[in-house]
Amino acid sequence: MKRKLLGALLSVAMVASLLVGCGSDGGAATTAADSASDAQAETTADTNDDAAAPAEDAGTEAPSDTASAGGKIGISMPTQSLERWNRDGAYLDEQFKAAGFETILTFSDNDSGRQVNDIQNMLADGVDLLIVAAIDGEALNTAMNEAADANVPVIAYDRLILNDAVSYYVSFDNYTVGKLQGEFIVNQLDLANAGDKVYNLEITAGDPADNNAGYFYNGAVDTLKPYIDAGTLNIVSGQQDFDTVATAQWNTDTALERAQNVLSSYYADGTQLDVWLCSNDSTALGVAQAITSDYAGSNSVVITGQDGDEANLKNIVDGVQTMTVYKNVSNESVVTLGLAKAILAGDTVDESLIPSFGIECAFDTESYETSAGNKCPSFLLVPNVITKDNLQDLVDTGLYTMGDDGYLSAN
Ligand code: GAL
Repeated sequence: MKRKLLGALLSVAMVASLLVGCGSDGGAATTAADSASDAQAETTADTNDDAAAPAEDAGTEAPSDTASAGGKIGISMPTQSLERWNRDGAYLDEQFKAAGFETILTFSDNDSGRQVNDIQNMLADGVDLLIVAAIDGEALNTAMNEAADANVPVIAYDRLILNDAVSYYVSFDNYTVGKLQGEFIVNQLDLANAGDKVYNLEITAGDPADNNAGYFYNGAVDTLKPYIDAGTLNIVSGQQDFDTVATAQWNTDTALERAQNVLSSYYADGTQLDVWLCSNDSTALGVAQAITSDYAGSNSVVITGQDGDEANLKNIVDGVQTMTVYKNVSNESVVTLGLAKAILAGDTVDESLIPSFGIECAFDTESYETSAGNKCPSFLLVPNVITKDNLQDLVDTGLYTMGDDGYLSAN
């Protein structure tokens, strides 16, 4: 009952929010009243029934009325097969619950059809707000349109969804992630002072279905381009354009296989490989494995990454990977919670919210569009470079512990 009353109050308070957000029809940045008034729908929207992947089946709800006083939040994560999304899912779930919300958390096993289904079930279950990290930014239209019809606001989490039902976007500055990787390579090889020296480079990018992947690639390649154009960086395989170097689903084995092919085709004759730009840690893991097993040279190859996954942090300690761009996803979930609260309370959403998050980020109304010309207001957090020299920074976040062996594990 308590929740019904809150829903009724919200329905008045949130009319103002109809005017905010990036849905051109205003349909998504709207009131929680419709679904909040359906307080009976308290069952778990859990359709993840793949017995072979029980770990992907994580529907969860808070038990008591008190816990659901803030409303019901649907949290749709892409997969548990990559470490970071497990952390994102757990942090979001914990933080929303601690703030008094009821939650439904699903992982969709990198299957877009399943993600649509999971979101539809959340809507049927009466969620007041959706948080979605898309598997494929262009494949969620059915679910997004249903969210808009039900006046359920959608926060695109980390990856933008290309549908105007999305109200807001929370992520890191994705172009900067790639730029940091490119700058790292420039500094590590001291390219500005390379003179006639030529360094051999290969590139592995992310999933073309992930809207972020192009930003990472462009940020890095734009930074390296002057050196590629000058011949200081030489892509021996000639494989440079995004589609050629992309990795479906950021899959480690796919990255491993392509790297093995490149090594056997272009480096088996003893050609020295100096650097492999990898957009993230799951692809860096495959590339590092290929280099360890299939590279004929004995020099250490500079390898970039992104995320701070445990296996990659171990590779950094062991000198097998050189850096990762760390994104504090606990902070990303704090910003998401702050934004969700503001949306549900009908507060104005702009940069004035940032001090209440207590986390460094920018409010950006220009960089991202859910469709041509339809800007999506975004909160973009700041990524950091991690190498073997500043692993302690991760320990200092309180999110990692360093063992006696020097390896980090996520807490
Ligand atoms: C991206 C995300 C990265 C990385 C990658 C693979 O969308 O921003 O941090 O995790 O997906 O999951």
